[in-house]
Amino acid sequence: MQVQDNISLRPYNTFGIDAQAEYFMQLTDTNQLAEIATSWHGEKHVIGGGSNILLTKDVEGITILNCLKGIEQVKEDENHVWLKVASGEVWHELVMYAIDHEWAGIENLALIPGTVGAAPMQNIGAYGVEVKEAIEEVTCWHWEEQRYITLNNAQCRFGYRDSIFKHELKGKVFITYVVFRLNKRATFNTSYGAISQQLEKMGVTELSIKAIADAVIAIRSSKLPDPKLMGNAGSFFKNPSVSKLQYDKLQLQYPGIPSYPIDDTHVKVPAGWLIEQCGLKGYLAGNTAVHDKQALVLVNKGQAKGKEVWELSEKVLQTVQQKFGITLEREVQVW
Ligand code: EPU
Repeated sequence: MQVQDNISLRPYNTFGIDAQAEYFMQLTDTNQLAEIATSWHGEKHVIGGGSNILLTKDVEGITILNCLKGIEQVKEDENHVWLKVASGEVWHELVMYAIDHEWAGIENLALIPGTVGAAPMQNIGAYGVEVKEAIEEVTCWHWEEQRYITLNNAQCRFGYRDSIFKHELKGKVFITYVVFRLNKRATFNTSYGAISQQLEKMGVTELSIKAIADAVIAIRSSKLPDPKLMGNAGSFFKNPSVSKLQYDKLQLQYPGIPSYPIDDTHVKVPAGWLIEQCGLKGYLAGNTAVHDKQALVLVNKGQAKGKEVWELSEKVLQTVQQKFGITLEREVQVW
């Protein structure tokens, strides 16, 4: 187990923020977990793809880069296959692997940055699908109890960009692998308007999971900045839930306000729309900006400090609050 000190985390976060890890190691073998648990009693931080974190200061304690790899088929029946996937695998590569084998269920989640271990953590979702629909169970190492625990789907308490790993188990466990149940017989989800429009644009007449992934990749590439070219962490805020009563009032004032249904009494309003209505789409603040193609994304124009991105997010929050009376919630984990 090789531990380094004072390592720049810039290559390990998609915002491209230059903060230092006090101690840093790459975890390549689950056997190292027990070793860390007995030898390190201070703070432990885990980084996967680093695509959902904002580093606002140097990181004390040990930062563990998850490099666990492996995809294994553990079960199969007439309709499904079950894959046990190590948490350090790159999410998009898993999506492509499933598509190559014609296993359906996660194709709408193509091109989401990050690792497999981060997928259950924030219940990644896009274009009408959330990963919870494909997760059978999640296994993690419990730091204090020094043992593995396995949570079934219900025990993960998945919600919109949410799970038990962001609450009761936050900082307490290291997700080691996730078992996915994929479908041998595809049912296509093209409910999200942008997908059907894109498929039409691409001239697709016969649906396939590959065609859906291609459509998703095309849409994402046109709206979301590539972190390799411009630092960002995808959606910075969650889409807020508002009561139907409040929504109806807003609609009188803003007839074009979009919404997604949640239940009988609440709807979700796209935060990107709210931010754009505030005139902040493309807004520049020093080294940071609100992305000019999708206002839900904050970007690092080059040399930004995490604090500057945080300040921009505060400005966005306050402006939306003043104009609409809606409080946005950050989706990105702030360190
Ligand atoms: N909109 C605007 N202006 C903007 C951005 C969006 O008016 O600058 C409007 C769009 O016109 C559309 C609506 O808002 O009517 C929704 O926009 P979009 O389809 O781009 O999706 P989103 O709600 O902004 C969510 C997820 C994305 C996911 C897309 C597609 C959250 C926080 N974000 O964004 O997830 O890719 O839907 O399903 O739920 C991520 O989590 O990092 C992420 C990118």
